[in-house]
Amino acid sequence: MTTAVSTPNAVERHTRHIAVAFGDGHRGVFHHLWLRDNCLCAECLHPETHERVLDTFSLDPEVAPVVVDDAGDQLAIDWSDGHHTRHGLDWLRARCPCSGCTAPRVPPPRLWDAGIAGDLPELRYADVVTDDVNVGLAAFVETVWTTGFVFVRDVPKTEDALRDLARRVGHLRETNFGPDFHVETMLDPNNVAYTSVELRPHTDAANLETPPGVQFLFCLSADAPGGHSTLVDGFAVAERLRTGEPDTFALLCDVAIPYRFHDRTHDLRWAAPVVGLHDDGSYREVRFHNALMAPFDLPLELIEPTYAALRRFHELATSEQQRISVRLRPGDAMVFHNRRVLHGRSAFDPGGGHRHLFGLYVDVDEWLSRLRMLRRSSSEGYADVSASRGGGSARCR
Ligand code: OGA
Ligand code: ZN
Ligand code: ZN
Repeated sequence: MTTAVSTPNAVERHTRHIAVAFGDGHRGVFHHLWLRDNCLCAECLHPETHERVLDTFSLDPEVAPVVVDDAGDQLAIDWSDGHHTRHGLDWLRARCPCSGCTAPRVPPPRLWDAGIAGDLPELRYADVVTDDVNVGLAAFVETVWTTGFVFVRDVPKTEDALRDLARRVGHLRETNFGPDFHVETMLDPNNVAYTSVELRPHTDAANLETPPGVQFLFCLSADAPGGHSTLVDGFAVAERLRTGEPDTFALLCDVAIPYRFHDRTHDLRWAAPVVGLHDDGSYREVRFHNALMAPFDLPLELIEPTYAALRRFHELATSEQQRISVRLRPGDAMVFHNRRVLHGRSAFDPGGGHRHLFGLYVDVDEWLSRLRMLRRSSSEGYADVSASRGGGSARCR
């Protein structure tokens, strides 16, 4: 059943939905239940918190419009349950649920390999922290999200300078290592990072249900010979396997690898596949840390294929083709997406001098929130970014 209403071809009534032809030529289809449930009135949406106060589950599933009026720039409906709703056409346009309109509104990742060494993303601390129009901050937040890392140069050599940088994005993520951490050789270490051995590419805290999102590693001193930092795009490694070795890729997506950290005060365990995908196949996370792997609790027939798949992932992650190696100097901060980009370091000689990094984390929620807020407040630039489509995460709008 299709009934024309006041403006023919602008709003069409159907049995269970309303179709709206918007001014930009797009046609949006809105289910009755969805329209009634998304009422914007003060009875349905708390006028101050903007949280929902409508009891969705009290709605009649068959609720239907009695009178539809699309005069002006609003769609006004009197409903069969006696309620009245009014939706701005702009509001509806921005929430069109079709697949074209719900494609990612945060920029998708740009995958990279060792070739990126010729053009490393870098920013100056002052440009990110002291710029009141937020252009530097936007570049910072954006680059870490799309490329997965950025080097911040000329950071004042204090712990607070790094905290200030991180807090421009959001609040800090505390872990069992504390609100922040110092990476230097120590007596009685509870983490291999606190020794001088090589650290192969890994993601931190793979043993947690939600590993920290973005990691900041800030170089305070680098006098010891060795200790070069490595970075590898875990999504790019996964993508090579997805296209060239689908069986290995499938195994890395399916088999949960158990990870564990334990010391005198903690026993933190989680099991998850190396590659985590969103429903649409885009990458959500990579989690890989040989030092934290717990004994596999896998059926016998999965032991060999699992070791083989992990070995292959490790082989690519350590290959010259995928990784970059950089020597951090005092005042350099390396900021990277810990659930995508693997990091590591070569061994160093603690007898030859002091090596000292200061680190902390900010979670993905904070990062994406800042990205959206910056985009919202920017009339240009971010509009281009928000137009990008595909490859990103359907859940991170
Ligand atoms: C870490 C780590 C790298 C380094 O602390 O998790 O990976 O360069 N450190 O010491
Ligand atoms: Zn209402
Ligand atoms: Zn680490």
